[in-house]
Amino acid sequence: MLTVTDLHVSYGVIKALCGVSFTVGAGQIVTLVGGNGAGKTTALRTISGLLRPGAGRIEFLGQNITRLPAHEIVALGLCHVPEGRMVFANLTVEENLAMGAYLLRDPAKAATNRDYVFGIFPRLKERIRQTAGTLSGGEQQMLAIGRALMGEPKFLMLDEPSLGIAPRLVTTIFAKIVEISRDRGLPILLVEQNARLALEISCTAYVLESGHVAMEGPSADLRRDPRLRATYLGG
Ligand SMILES: Nc1ncnc2c1ncn2[C@@H]1O[C@H](COP(=O)(O)OP(=O)(O)O)[C@@H](O)[C@H]1O
Ligand SMILES: [Mg+2]
Repeated sequence: MLTVTDLHVSYGVIKALCGVSFTVGAGQIVTLVGGNGAGKTTALRTISGLLRPGAGRIEFLGQNITRLPAHEIVALGLCHVPEGRMVFANLTVEENLAMGAYLLRDPAKAATNRDYVFGIFPRLKERIRQTAGTLSGGEQQMLAIGRALMGEPKFLMLDEPSLGIAPRLVTTIFAKIVEISRDRGLPILLVEQNARLALEISCTAYVLESGHVAMEGPSADLRRDPRLRATYLGG
């Protein structure tokens, strides 16, 4: 579905990605893990067309999207839930979800999709008339994911869905991520500092360190890797 090859991205003189390659197959959950500043967000922003790579190639569904503008990439069904969630704080839950449906060819599907989102996240239904800014961090993350699902994406990228969220809700949200991927056969590229959780729900993992892929392989193998355990899982 998504193939990233030898990606190089810089911010002025700062090299954020130096030759990163990875792939996500149909229906898979693949994770990029790594510490703060490793280049995870840069990778997602570049795939989304928000940053231009200095070199490298990004293919989505067999199409070269490396130089496409962001709005064309979204229109292909590649949806990015950014770090920090970025819901519209002054709009209600209902209005935020409606914003996610604007690219649908068939507007009648918005109601069906909303029912699906409410089935996954019943809390959003309970808070339908509440403004997003009054939701907890975890609920805002549910809303951000729900809004993405409203547009029937073909591919979902999640940037640190666990960040700043109460541990109990993090467990719920990660279980829902697995459910969504299974239900819809939706491939997900999950970026996380929380390597423990990310390795639990993904099939394949890439460990980013200073803009390089330091380790990669089946998540189950990486969970047992002594070096990864020492650095990212606390031994
Ligand atoms: N807007 C920016 N301007 C300059 N440097 C940036 C910018 N955003 C990120 N960086 C740098 O790029 C590197 C990778 O950052 P980022 O992709 O945000 O990492 P991560 O998401 O893994 O924490 C870091 O060294 C960071 O300081
Ligand atoms: Mg980041």
